[in-house]
Amino acid sequence: MTKHKVTLIPGEGIGPEVAAATRRILEATGVQIEWEEIAGRSDNSSDQGKTVNQAAVESVRRNRVALKGPMATAIAGGAPSVNVALRKTLDLYANLRPVKNVPGVKSHFENVDLILVRENTEDLYSGLEHEVVPGVVESLKIITEKASTRIAKFAFEYAKCHGRKKIHAIHKANIMKLSDGLFLKSVRAVAADFPAIEYKELIVDNACMQIVMDPLQFDMLLLPNLYGDVMSDLAAGLVGGLGVVPSANIGDECAMFEAVHGTAPDIAGKGFANPTALLMSGGLMLDHLGEQKAAGRIQNALEKVYRQGKHTTRDVGGKAGTEEFADAVIAVLKQK
Ligand code: NAI
Repeated sequence: MTKHKVTLIPGEGIGPEVAAATRRILEATGVQIEWEEIAGRSDNSSDQGKTVNQAAVESVRRNRVALKGPMATAIAGGAPSVNVALRKTLDLYANLRPVKNVPGVKSHFENVDLILVRENTEDLYSGLEHEVVPGVVESLKIITEKASTRIAKFAFEYAKCHGRKKIHAIHKANIMKLSDGLFLKSVRAVAADFPAIEYKELIVDNACMQIVMDPLQFDMLLLPNLYGDVMSDLAAGLVGGLGVVPSANIGDECAMFEAVHGTAPDIAGKGFANPTALLMSGGLMLDHLGEQKAAGRIQNALEKVYRQGKHTTRDVGGKAGTEEFADAVIAVLKQK
């Protein structure tokens, strides 16, 4: 049996709690994983915790796979995001966000089954902002043919390998004619090589309206970074929120699997955080490692625990703590 070496970055706030529960459940599948646990943030006093821990970056590069808990970022000022820095440093250019109903979790829609692919490295996330004159700031939106083409190739290849039928590219090229125009032009060139996959385009504001009116009309969405950020949380809201959707950041060299929720400082350390999102991300990780059977078992066990509804956490209307929920999933995994 293959032993996989995986970097585990527990993260901050509820990160260590949900990471520990996820690790226990993943191990209960019997998949052999050797964890290399490491902090994501530098503890070097000279950078005052502002930067990425280089040893974590090296660990991910070495192991090529990481499972990561959330890390805090200051709002309006302060240090830049360690999460974003990790994705950029490791060139994890594709953000994959499957959005699917979990049975028993209250949601506005049923039978939602979407895949969002978000470009992860450029657009308004380039961090190029400056004050032109007092009272006027400028943020640069960077779109390149190279990054747009590679994210499009990722999306179409993903669709081909996972039996997906249709991709909508989301844009605002009617207004940002050059930048979003280049994104679309690059995507169209890739789409032409995948005639079996239906290709459509939609302006982002219309896409937001369409998806909340009828999410079942969509299969996969391909988005530049900013629209991807907004629409992937919007899509999570269709099936019950950020607590029940996984996420993966994938590059050519390595991949990092993480929950999309944050550090939840309001409940950190209290023992009732919901580990579902990180666990589902762990499922995506198993899939990526070629352990599809174990990934499927986790999904089934999770769904059974939700369907039974006896051991779910408070955020989804239950009473269980993190460990009780994890024990319930493990008990189902161990059933014959
Ligand atoms: P948040 O996701 O941490 O919390 C929003 C609300 O959802 C809170 O009421 C929280 O208790 C609840 N919540 C989140 N995850 C939960 C879970 N697993 N179980 C139960 N309840 C859960 O978002 P917020 O407050 O905006 O951000 C807090 C910090 O997290 C910030 O510093 C932010 O920058 C960071 N963050 C990090 C992310 C990452 O590492 N990928 C992603 C999003 C935010």
